Parts: sequence; structure tokens; C-alpha cells
Amino acid sequence: MHEGIGRIRDTTFGEVMHSVNDPAEEARSLYVEQSRLIERLHEADPAPLVLWDVGLGAAANAMAAIHAVEAGGGDLNLRKLILVSFENDLDSLRLALRHTKWFLHLRHAAPGELLANGRWSSGKNAIEWLLLGGDFRSRKHDAAPPDLIYFDPFSYKADSELWSLQSFRELHALCSGKPAELFTYTYSTRVRAAMLAAGFYVAKGRATGPKAETTIGLSARAAATAHHRELLGEEWLGKWRRSDAQAPLGSLANDESWREAVTGHPQFRR
Ligand SMILES: C[S@@+](CC[C@H](N)C(=O)[O-])C[C@H]1O[C@@H](n2cnc3c(N)ncnc32)[C@H](O)[C@@H]1O
Repeated sequence: MHEGIGRIRDTTFGEVMHSVNDPAEEARSLYVEQSRLIERLHEADPAPLVLWDVGLGAAANAMAAIHAVEAGGGDLNLRKLILVSFENDLDSLRLALRHTKWFLHLRHAAPGELLANGRWSSGKNAIEWLLLGGDFRSRKHDAAPPDLIYFDPFSYKADSELWSLQSFRELHALCSGKPAELFTYTYSTRVRAAMLAAGFYVAKGRATGPKAETTIGLSARAAATAHHRELLGEEWLGKWRRSDAQAPLGSLANDESWREAVTGHPQFRR
């Protein structure tokens, strides 16, 4: 507990969730506002908007999305929101739900019901929240393809697999049919290179706490829209060329095809 805000340390990975920022504020700014969730729900599209919450943890990001929709007061013109949370260890949520005086965002019927039944739905606001337990690496194939991804696993130093080239390639393939966007807190050169090599267009995300930038990944279809994101350009490419952290995590010593995929990426040809 710090300044009246609950924080959870994962004893396996040794990382603290939202260690430096107020989790509710980071959830609102970095994920909900930046992804323009409410604007996307106002689009005249009969299909539901599918939001993937990767690393449910204590549900700060998921509840920020739900609270933002509910703040609209049940607007019947909104698209339906399908929120899919992925989590392989529900202990954090169980613990936080026992201490809602420190985890204010959990003072709501939804998280308890999600834990008990694996789903919660709000008739009023047309939100359907589903929990896919187990490893995201396999469970992502069981969900409807995403329009938005809140990508919030532990850092690549603690949990490298989810940040690997292979992982981003699979993720990119799953959202390539949609104008999808992925939001994440890191701005590591290595991770951005992995996303580019996997086929994402990569843009600067807004600052959060001590981080000067974060990262947004766009599918090619999202990049073809009037997205107003600040795509990385020549300056970043120069920095990457001078970096000793060029190789994406999980790339093989005898396969440097990622190098050409980064330097030849269409976003640098504009
Ligand atoms: C930084 S915390 C997420 C915080 C959360 N988004 C929130 O708003 O409170 C990362 C979470 O990712 C989960 N996680 C790590 N690797 C995973 C995997 N391979 N599959 C599913 N969940 C995973 C961890 O158990 C942890 O709860």
C-alpha cells in the first residue's frame, strides 16, 4: 500500500503491478483515452468492438474501460463492447477483491462475477466481459479477433515470451483483418523492433509517469485510416541502427530476416 493505493507484487516474476503510477490514472490515460474507446464505440458499425485486456492482473485497465462506458449513462446508440481479459494467475484479482478499500476500482459487481463465472454482462450498457484463463500464448486463438489490445504483461525482462518476435507475429496475424491498435507501456527499442518486424506499424504513445513515451502498434488496415498517430520515422531508425539492442527477443542467430523487415518496413518509405 502506498499513498492509499494498493499495489501487488508478483512473487514468481518479482514485479510490482503499476509500480510507479496510480493504476487507475494510467489505465485511463494510457489505455482508455489513448485508444479512443468511447469514440470507437460510437462508430456506425453493427459489429461489436472487441477489446483484449492482456494481463488482467487486478483489473485496473478492464475496470477503467467499463467505468468509461458506464459514465456515458447507457447510451443506446453505442456499439456493443466485448471485453476479453487474459490471465494465467487469478490470485492478484482475488487478493485485491478482498481489499477494495485500497482497490477502489473494484467496488463494482463485475469483477466478483467474472471471477465466479468467467463472464459478466451489463444489459444496460451492452458490455460483455469474458475471462480466458491460462496462457495468453494459446488462449488468444480462442477469442474473437481484436479491434483494440491493452497489452500489459510484466516487462520483457521478467516475462520475455510475450514480447518475442514470434509472439508479435502471431498477434499481428490475428488482428490483420481489422483496423486494430495495440497499446503498451514500454518504449524499448528491442520491443518496437519486434513489433515492426512482425508487421505492425509502430507509433509513439503518450508519456506516463516517468516514461517519456509509450508505444502503439497498428495493423496495416489501421495504418491505412486517418489514425493521427505519430509513426516512428527516420530518427528512430537511426537510433535503432546505432543501438546494441537491435535483435528482437526470441530471434534466431541464423535468421536475420527481421533486419530487412525493420529497415524495409513501409512506414519508413513515406
Ligand atoms: C502488469 S500485470 C497486469 C496489470 C493489469 N493489467 C491491471 O490493470 O491491473 C501482468 C499480468 O499478466 C499476467 N500474465 C503474465 N504472463 C501471462 C500469460 N502468459 N498469459 C496470461 N497472463 C499472463 C500476470 O499474471 C499478471 O497478472
